[in-house]
Amino acid sequence: MAKLHNIPPEELERQRQYALKVREILSVKYPTAKPLAYVHTYGCQGNVADGERIEGLLSEMGYDFCDSPESADLVLYNTCAVREHAEDRVFGNVGKLKNYKKDKPDLIVALCGCMMQQAHVRERIYKSYPFVNLVFGTHVLHRLPELLYQTLTGGKRVVCAPEGFGEIAEHLPVRRSGGVKAWLPIMYGCDNFCTYCIVPYVRARERSREPEDVLREAREIIAAGCREITLLGQNVNSYGKGNKSELNFAGLLREINALPGDFKIRFMTSHPKDCTHELLETIAQCDKVSKHLHLPVQSGNDRVLRAMNRRYTRQQYLDLVADAKATVPGLSLTSDIIVGFPGETYEEFQDTVSLVRKVEYTSLFTFIYSPRKGTAAAELPDPVSHKEKTRWFAELTAVQEEIAANRIAESVGKTYTVLVEGRSKTDKSRLAGRTDGNVMIEFAGSPEKIGTYCEVRVTETGKWTLFGEALPQSDTE
Ligand code: 5AD
Ligand code: SF4
Repeated sequence: MAKLHNIPPEELERQRQYALKVREILSVKYPTAKPLAYVHTYGCQGNVADGERIEGLLSEMGYDFCDSPESADLVLYNTCAVREHAEDRVFGNVGKLKNYKKDKPDLIVALCGCMMQQAHVRERIYKSYPFVNLVFGTHVLHRLPELLYQTLTGGKRVVCAPEGFGEIAEHLPVRRSGGVKAWLPIMYGCDNFCTYCIVPYVRARERSREPEDVLREAREIIAAGCREITLLGQNVNSYGKGNKSELNFAGLLREINALPGDFKIRFMTSHPKDCTHELLETIAQCDKVSKHLHLPVQSGNDRVLRAMNRRYTRQQYLDLVADAKATVPGLSLTSDIIVGFPGETYEEFQDTVSLVRKVEYTSLFTFIYSPRKGTAAAELPDPVSHKEKTRWFAELTAVQEEIAANRIAESVGKTYTVLVEGRSKTDKSRLAGRTDGNVMIEFAGSPEKIGTYCEVRVTETGKWTLFGEALPQSDTE
């Protein structure tokens, strides 16, 4: 029996028919050269993975792609709702399109992603941005062909962002953007309802892809020559719940690890409450799995953790970190932290600082709390000023910089296996890649090395980046 949370093949076929119709319309409208689409994705890697599917669909419908909205016939912003700052940037960039539209009345402006799943955002777009042609939510990405057809033929604005469970669309075309690295979503949505977070509201309930679908896509990625697969989900540790298959996340990692090929596996994000010893052992035992764990703590204070609904205590988190470090030698740990959760005091914030000192993360993603309409935390009193929170933020950043500097200094003289991702952004004569622990490293080398693994010995360090020299191939054997 087909799984309830997969979109039925008939519906996907219906969309393919719409894609053909759109192709037909576009070939008449643009007879000499393909129309150009500019797709810009904000936010997390999950959104980036959606963007790659959107581009796959647009390509199927006959679009080519360009790097700026000025030259585009279709501009699509795939939006993020996780913090106010991300939303403000979207509104700012959409506002700028008004002028382009004056010069090019046929320009199609489309908005999708997490922001569009919120009614108050859709209302604002509808009222204040009348030149937006198409708005679609996160659950109907696969219906882009039908929605674009309506936009091109109906002469009206099209808005489609239903609530709902959020089904999985398999077999969508993908236009991958990561070069030697590929994103592979293994699950969607989130059931955790951390009180600050909008994700469970805009991405709906947690649902996992069946292992056979994940493995099929992993094989495709490897066959296409990608050397690093990052498995994506809001909480990969609870992968598999509700599936036909019994396979859990550790089992899935083992299956992907067993696929033939020269590639590495990363994954994110792991919720600490669901991180098992079995998973840690799997990381230790699987040669293709990077020894890196992104384990967001959010706060080091028990009262704040409770108010966030994180469902672990400071001590439980520290015990987990101790187990992780003991089970996976050389493990690199990274984390997300929210500074200034409503009602957090400076003393409580100090518990976060002391936890960061204890754990010694490789790197941290630190955010000042941003109230999200509709979440429980947005209703809490929030007496600390933004200015004060900014000071706390700077304090934590300085502590982490000190830890990272010490850690980075210890790397000098060590040799790392590095996947060469491309040229350095700051010095085109150098190559850039990441160590297994996800630290950026740059070194001199020829571009043929891009997409290969090199052994690199660290000679110098920057603030966040290592610099080194590639060892000759024979040294590494
Ligand atoms: N304010 C600030 N940071 C947030 N995050 C999620 N929601 C918010 C919010 N409302 C952060 C968390 C999460 C990361 C992806 O974004 O740290 O782990
Ligand atoms: Fe948001 Fe918490 Fe779910 Fe992460 S686990 S997406 S922080 S609700």
